[in-house]
Amino acid sequence: MLKVNENYLELQGSYLFSTIAKKVNAFTAENPDKKIIRLGIGDVTRPLTPTIIKALHDAVDEMAHEETFRGYAPDLGYEFLRSAIAENDYVKRGCDIRADEIFVSDGAKSDSGNIQEIFSTESRIAVCDPVYPVYVDSNVMSGRAGKYNKDSANYKKVIYMPCTEANNFAPEFPEETPDIIYLCFPNNPTGSAITKERLQEWVDYANRNKAVIIYDAAYEAYISKKDVPHSIYECEGARTCAIELRSFSKNAGFTGLRLGFTVIPKDIVIDGTTLHSLWARRHGTKYNGAPYIVQRAGEAVYSEEGKKEIRGLVDYYMRNASYIYNGLKNAGYSVSGGVNAPYIWLKTPDNMTSWDFFDHLLNDVNVVGTPGSGFGPSGEGYFRLTAFGSYENTVEAIDRITRA
Ligand SMILES: Cc1ncc(COP(=O)(O)O)c(C=O)c1O
Repeated sequence: MLKVNENYLELQGSYLFSTIAKKVNAFTAENPDKKIIRLGIGDVTRPLTPTIIKALHDAVDEMAHEETFRGYAPDLGYEFLRSAIAENDYVKRGCDIRADEIFVSDGAKSDSGNIQEIFSTESRIAVCDPVYPVYVDSNVMSGRAGKYNKDSANYKKVIYMPCTEANNFAPEFPEETPDIIYLCFPNNPTGSAITKERLQEWVDYANRNKAVIIYDAAYEAYISKKDVPHSIYECEGARTCAIELRSFSKNAGFTGLRLGFTVIPKDIVIDGTTLHSLWARRHGTKYNGAPYIVQRAGEAVYSEEGKKEIRGLVDYYMRNASYIYNGLKNAGYSVSGGVNAPYIWLKTPDNMTSWDFFDHLLNDVNVVGTPGSGFGPSGEGYFRLTAFGSYENTVEAIDRITRA
């Protein structure tokens, strides 16, 4: 008898952003004259920079001629891009990562969702709480998360690592030992970062327990503090236990172009099998490579001009982050994040729930943010604002909030 994949029925729906959209639409319908400012979404708003645009145009032109036309891309990525990544993101930072350990993809969302496929469904996963929802949902789909418990708002087989004010939004080693540990730093949604010293402890923990860390470094470009590592491979021993995910979305504005990559060192060996070989096989079977044109644009990110322009984008957003952080702090809010990340995580005032605070901002000052409880039970009582809007809108939104 035909059956659906019943694991999907355990998914809790994408209620977060759809509920936000519903509430905002209802408000707009009733108040068409009100100007709503959105500081809720994680999408960028600045256009692509000139060097990237030129690389795109040049690559498009190449496609018009028989001699330079490109068909299917190599499924692990073009050599020119893998080498540029290895050199700039790893070798220059003293990390021992080679071009053939880099797998180019269409972004960190797909990779963070798909990577679980190369592990047994028996493996136990540990995630931070609150968390980027893809890590949990992709494991629900594959049956690794177990049943959902409505009362505790979590999955039975998932090990949750609460990240709250009490531990400065940094996970502690869990009581149960996981097989797969998802870490994301700088963090979405809390905007927190991890010191190299602390990350080294996680790497040692993973090696000691024969676990694998899936390290999502999508926001690496926003790091401003010296003691915060840009890559997990800055830590000793990471080559035997860590997979790193990166994205061109937030540093270079590729959310619409789509480009990212995953690093799997050849030294991660489980029962005689390298994870590198499994992921290569998976890519070869299910993926035909990121578009040539986009990979050329990715290469341009690493040119001298490209690097300068990208820095300009990140600086633009981080100016917003500072405005949000300082504005709210000066107004008496308890805030974190915003220093090494484009996310500001604030404690809701007067013990309001995350959704009550959402309603207050929407109805009273017409600003949209994201309720922390939507990222996991430990996000209750918190709220996320993003620095990805325009500077003018950001200033207006914070001025409205702090005057309210
Ligand atoms: C933590 C984290 N990882 C991955 C992604 C997705 O990145 P990409 O656009 O490369 O798919 C996001 C996007 O918001 C994110 O917040």
